[in-house]
Amino acid sequence: MTTGEIIDGKAFAAEVRARVAEGVAAFRAKAARAPGLAVVLVGEDPASAVYVRSKGKATREAGMESFAHRLPAEASQDDLIALVERLNTDGAVDGILVQLPLPKQIDERAVIAAIAPDKDVDGFHPENAGRLASGLDGFVPCTPLGCLMMLKDRLGDLSGLDAVVIGRSNIVGKPMAQLLLGESCTVTIAHSRTRNLPAVIGRADIIVAAVGRPQMIKGDWIKPGATVIDVGINRVPAEEEGKTRLVGDVDFAGALPHVAAITPVPGGVGPMTIAVLLRNTLVAAHRHAGLPFEVEGL
Ligand code: GUN
Repeated sequence: MTTGEIIDGKAFAAEVRARVAEGVAAFRAKAARAPGLAVVLVGEDPASAVYVRSKGKATREAGMESFAHRLPAEASQDDLIALVERLNTDGAVDGILVQLPLPKQIDERAVIAAIAPDKDVDGFHPENAGRLASGLDGFVPCTPLGCLMMLKDRLGDLSGLDAVVIGRSNIVGKPMAQLLLGESCTVTIAHSRTRNLPAVIGRADIIVAAVGRPQMIKGDWIKPGATVIDVGINRVPAEEEGKTRLVGDVDFAGALPHVAAITPVPGGVGPMTIAVLLRNTLVAAHRHAGLPFEVEGL
């Protein structure tokens, strides 16, 4: 049996980040300021703290300004919305990211709705979701946009291909489906109530898995030669006692002989998310400065 190719998301993300850094340098020369990204973390969730730190580091490495804001776990919704409103009117801030999930006393939807749509570099605001669904310019969520960039890099024109997205979240599944539809794919969205998932997946030329269930998609469900993007990040017990490891939503080893190409976990989609966040922030800065966004390959 042949073996599929493993898509190196880390290398691809490094290329995107290098292009962003070039774009930042050109922007700074024209606008006489750096693009700025504000990241807000509420509470002490260790995984979120790690993400926020790595976002700050990547932002500075790209030549942008990073503004970190931390609120205590018991902060009220009003406190957080007041901070967002200050950032909305701060001329040094082009992008605002409120790290999710938020503590339970805070309604995520109310906070997302408070972010100025032109600074919503996560693309979660209903105005940006509506723009994506209507085929208008706006901010697109980072993870699905990163997935689309990897697919187009591999496959070129996606027009007419059968794509199955497994998962229907606002952060990944729904925007991913919209993006693939925008590329003229025939798109199916599968989810926990889908009947005969193996048959649905078996039709697909493109499979994007974003369900959050470790290794649930089996290799022998996959049509030979399909391209698989695995968005899942699931922590499972490792063979070594007391240790854990990360796996995707796809049974990677089982899938590899069937696919044309597949993203690994870790090292596939994950690194692309931050790269696209930087790209979206650079786009926001250009809009705020009234400059056209013309960065090669972005
Ligand atoms: N938490 C996990 N992923 C994300 C993301 O892409 N954006 C935000 N704001 N929070 C997250």
